[in-house]
Amino acid sequence: MAILTTEHLTRRFKELTAVDDLTISVNQGEIFGLLGPNGAGKSTVIKMITTLLPPTSGCASVGGFDVVHNASNVRRLIGYVPQILSADGTLTGRENLMIFAKLYDIPKSERAPRIDESLEFMGLTDACNKLVKNYSGGMIRRLEIAQAMLHHPKVLFLDEPTIGLDPVGRKAVWDHIQKMCSDFDTTIFLTTHYMEEADKLCSRVAIMHLGKLAVIGVPADLKASLNKENVTLDDVFVYYTGGDLESGGSYREASMTRQTARRLG
Ligand SMILES: Nc1ncnc2c1ncn2[C@@H]1O[C@H](COP(=O)(O)OP(=O)(O)O)[C@@H](O)[C@H]1O
Ligand SMILES: [Mg+2]
Repeated sequence: MAILTTEHLTRRFKELTAVDDLTISVNQGEIFGLLGPNGAGKSTVIKMITTLLPPTSGCASVGGFDVVHNASNVRRLIGYVPQILSADGTLTGRENLMIFAKLYDIPKSERAPRIDESLEFMGLTDACNKLVKNYSGGMIRRLEIAQAMLHHPKVLFLDEPTIGLDPVGRKAVWDHIQKMCSDFDTTIFLTTHYMEEADKLCSRVAIMHLGKLAVIGVPADLKASLNKENVTLDDVFVYYTGGDLESGGSYREASMTRQTARRLG
């Protein structure tokens, strides 16, 4: 069953068409990966579906609610972890979570148990009274996910959740994302540059290039469609985006973005 759909979703910034006629649907309980080189339009798609940016044309809905006409209903169903930092380094993990508990209108008596639950779920109980500026990049990412899951969203949007993290931090974030999907039946909509992870964890992926949908499908099917041996999702990505991965652009830029620790220090 589709929990999220876009139809001819389009967003222009002056003469630039950042998202061009995107029609996709995401099923309840999926981990769906939106892939594409930098500038492909991924963050713009997420901003439109999360009601933060109005589409120029076309439409999108979450849980049957239109993102423009029923924005408040959509907001109640979703959690969002933006590409930019959303935790305050000068506060503790618990204090950051309290801000979000208030923001999401969680009743006073439920705030502490919800915060404890999300800390425990994200493996941050021991660190919850430390200032966030002393957290590792991976811990900060897990805290941001904890913030976004406090109100038990049906769909969680994660924009580049593992960018700039070391392999250990990346694995911890991915493990928690998977657990959320299985324990809470949360539908996950994420963007990533890491093809290997997307291949392992996403039930389906869509590859965007220059604002357009290049291809959508199950990773194994996309690999098989290239009709070659030992094909990886990297190969599929390069095939559909004209070699952006090989030129190193997306990877290099990815590692330069989100230098969390430095920005917080
Ligand atoms: N607010 C904005 N104003 C003007 N151009 C924008 C704005 N937001 C994004 N863009 C442009 O839209 C394109 C897609 O951006 P984005 O959605 O951030 O791509 P991605 O997340 O795939 O890297 C880029 O060319 C970017 O420069
Ligand atoms: Mg982006």
